[in-house]
Amino acid sequence: FWRGKPIFVRHRTEKEIKEAQDVQLSDLRDPEADSVRVKEGHAPWLIVYGNCTHLGCIPLGNQGAYGGWFCPCHGSVFDTSGRIRQGPAPTNLPIPPYAFVSDTKIKIG
Ligand code: FES
Repeated sequence: FWRGKPIFVRHRTEKEIKEAQDVQLSDLRDPEADSVRVKEGHAPWLIVYGNCTHLGCIPLGNQGAYGGWFCPCHGSVFDTSGRIRQGPAPTNLPIPPYAFVSDTKIKIG
């Protein structure tokens, strides 16, 4: 948690990264390239807020048609970059401010 909100920290596989990178931006409701959602040189690590952008429920990880998150409240589906792909959520899971302080440690905020 950070400032009372859940944060997802996900170490992505090569397959998950490639799937996220290969998506056409024109296929996205909230178009963002995977490269702008991770820190340069740290593509395996995705750090996002853990509240669905529909009504704020906490989506379930490693579920849904795109292998990212599935929000069972009303059916929003997020991909391995945390981008909205199906369902009512209007926007991607936001990225909190953070920085890598070493290869294995991040500081949020
Ligand atoms: Fe996630 Fe409604 S709160 S789909």
